[in-house]
Amino acid sequence: MKVGVIGSGDVGRVLAGGFLAHGHEVAIATREPAKLAAWAKQNPKGRVASFAEAAKFCELAVLAVKGTAANEALAAAGADALAGKVLIDATNPISGPPQNGVLKFFTTLDESLMEGLQKQFPRTRFVKAFNSVGNARMVNPDFGGVRPTMFICGNDAAAKATVQRILDDFGWETEDMGGAEAARAIEPLCMLWCIPGFLRNQWTHAFKLLK
Ligand SMILES: NC(=O)c1ccc[n+]([C@@H]2O[C@H](COP(=O)([O-])OP(=O)(O)OC[C@H]3O[C@@H](n4cnc5c(N)ncnc54)[C@H](OP(=O)(O)O)[C@@H]3O)[C@@H](O)[C@H]2O)c1
Repeated sequence: MKVGVIGSGDVGRVLAGGFLAHGHEVAIATREPAKLAAWAKQNPKGRVASFAEAAKFCELAVLAVKGTAANEALAAAGADALAGKVLIDATNPISGPPQNGVLKFFTTLDESLMEGLQKQFPRTRFVKAFNSVGNARMVNPDFGGVRPTMFICGNDAAAKATVQRILDDFGWETEDMGGAEAARAIEPLCMLWCIPGFLRNQWTHAFKLLK
């Protein structure tokens, strides 16, 4: 697929590299292309683009920007360019530094970041994924042969099936938690995931749902 990664931080770079490694065409987007000079050298098959160029280029988009900038970044990408496309939303609504290891969010338990984005960009097919694991474990995580669980949600079943195929390739087991409202539960998993990191400098774990 043609994948447009909107975001140039650790997550954007890791997922862009992962999509390239799994045989996809990738455009990674930033407001400042110079930031991605080293990434471009290491990934000669990838292209560096503006938010709008990546959105136009892609069949599937990935949103990997600061949560506070998600709306602005999607507006810059363009609602028309993203219309009808699957968008993997890896963002978290982090509002400030942790308190005793617990991050603060600007959302409430009754409205998640992704629901707000889905309302703002109703023609884009949002699927929450990759938000509750560290970037170092996002692609082909090695847990001694055990597949960790990626919790996903979104309103479009076909979009979630597409994302599940990608997660299969990337070494994950997928748990579909339902519609966009489930992001109210999935986004705070980021808070839980980060606590061992902030308290004990442990950043290499992932969640597994036992059944
Ligand atoms: N770090 C992790 O391991 C991890 C794991 C799971 C989920 N997440 C989530 O994934 C997202 C990305 O995290 P990250 O650590 O890779 O990077 P980040 O530092 O949270 O975000 C960097 C990206 O945000 C964009 N950005 C910042 N302000 C902006 C603005 N005003 N308008 C448009 N774009 C703006 C930057 O664009 P430019 O390139 O133009 O500067 C850059 O691409 C976050 O929502 C984070 O909570 C992170």
